[in-house]
Amino acid sequence: MDPKNREHLDQAVRHLNRLVAASLVIVAVALVNIMAPDTAEKWWGPEPEMAAPMAEAPEVVSDTLIVDGIHVASGLVVDDGFIQVKATCLACHSAKLVTQNRATRDGWKKMIRWMQETQNLWDLGTNEDLILDYLAKHYAPDEAGRRPNLPTPTWYVLED
Ligand code: HEC
Repeated sequence: MDPKNREHLDQAVRHLNRLVAASLVIVAVALVNIMAPDTAEKWWGPEPEMAAPMAEAPEVVSDTLIVDGIHVASGLVVDDGFIQVKATCLACHSAKLVTQNRATRDGWKKMIRWMQETQNLWDLGTNEDLILDYLAKHYAPDEAGRRPNLPTPTWYVLED
């Protein structure tokens, strides 16, 4: 063979060898990654942390869910007048203002009058009696159902 050609051939073989060697390294790295992820981690450090999961969406309570006679979405007792109270009394504020208050029928009437005089609450018409009956029945000042008063604390005098 012409020595010139011989040299070209040698060169080509050397290139090919390097190419094969490089491919082998790539395959080896891939294999280590697949078969021995722990070792791979030692070599290349831990996988980057996943992005924090999205904050959970607030739970949406179905408006039709009623558990133990309580309309879950509002916390109101379901009984005669519930529909009217729900339609009227939740128009401006949270049901908590209703469910966390206790009053006699008269007390509720005064609150309604106060809202009518100062907060633009409309005339409740024939619904008023139904609403007052409902409120007086379920949100009456019932001591038994409430937390007993805290014992009178002992007061100390702080000296300075
Ligand atoms: C037109 C709007 C509106 C409607 C409808 C409405 N309220 Fe109110 N209500 C208010 C406002 C305003 C306040 C004061 C809120 C505050 O202080 O944050 C209030 C306060 C209250 C309070 C708290 C009173 C207190 O002394 O702290 C209660 C209890 C209440 N409402 C019950 C009811 C009931 C029962 C109904 C249905 C009959 C009703 N509201 C309907 C506007 C309304």
